[in-house]
Amino acid sequence: MNKRRIYAEFYDLEYKNKRDDVDFYYRLAKKIKGPILECGCGTGRILAPIARLGKEIWGFDINTAMLGIAKKKIETLKVKKVKIFQDDLVKFYSPLLKNQQFNFIFLSFDSLAYLAQKNETYYSPEETRQRQCKALENIISHLDKDGLFAFDLFSPNDLSKDYIMRHHFSQIIKNETWSLFSAIQIPEERIFQIHYFMEILKMDGSIKRWHYPVSAYQATFQEIKSLLSKVGLRPIKVYGGFNLKPYKPNSEQMIFVCRKK
Ligand SMILES: C[S@@+](CC[C@H](N)C(=O)[O-])C[C@H]1O[C@@H](n2cnc3c(N)ncnc32)[C@H](O)[C@@H]1O
Repeated sequence: MNKRRIYAEFYDLEYKNKRDDVDFYYRLAKKIKGPILECGCGTGRILAPIARLGKEIWGFDINTAMLGIAKKKIETLKVKKVKIFQDDLVKFYSPLLKNQQFNFIFLSFDSLAYLAQKNETYYSPEETRQRQCKALENIISHLDKDGLFAFDLFSPNDLSKDYIMRHHFSQIIKNETWSLFSAIQIPEERIFQIHYFMEILKMDGSIKRWHYPVSAYQATFQEIKSLLSKVGLRPIKVYGGFNLKPYKPNSEQMIFVCRKK
């Protein structure tokens, strides 16, 4: 298996029980009449429960390994109104999207920050800001005039103090021990790289290890507000976490629910 596929498997294992964001987007989706789009849907962690509601939902991601897992989840649901395909937030090149409008578009689990990712390295902060702007313009062009757009991002904090090395989990899967570790590196101001170290220990004692770096950009609250205004989006709700308390400068997250201006 290549390391992107391994990373997708580890990602899905790590977050399979994360519920707070699933509940948030699920509740918004439940009220929507009309098609829904998740950009950067990954392994379908949030998309699948919404599909189970019987909603028409489309999801795309740049990473086909993540999409492979999402497609398997959807197959087991036997739902009809779901489309999963590869696309790039910055390009929106898929012919499927041509002339298609959505009543609800969302971008979950910090996906906007990961536009800093350039294969196994990163785009500069300036390039990343331009990519984020392009992604939001693409989203707006597919959002119905009365549609809703929601996304969440981590709030900038001092990662060098809070998080240097982590052991995420070790889990036995079919007689193999799967372990995930990570270390953070800040190669440039506002860019951080999470270096994932994945390890599989087999019954015969052999070990396989992979290293996969993932890059993200730490945007400030003001920066995101200006970006939204620039592209023509108006935040109607801004939360500081999935407990839905209002955003404050020391909040750990920034969650925006927007409409077109
Ligand atoms: C933290 S994951 C979130 C995945 C999923 N939304 C979830 O909540 O589990 C970020 C996702 O953004 C995707 N991504 C990064 N850059 C992208 C791009 N340019 N276009 C589309 N998806 C992208 C990654 O492949 C990854 O699946």
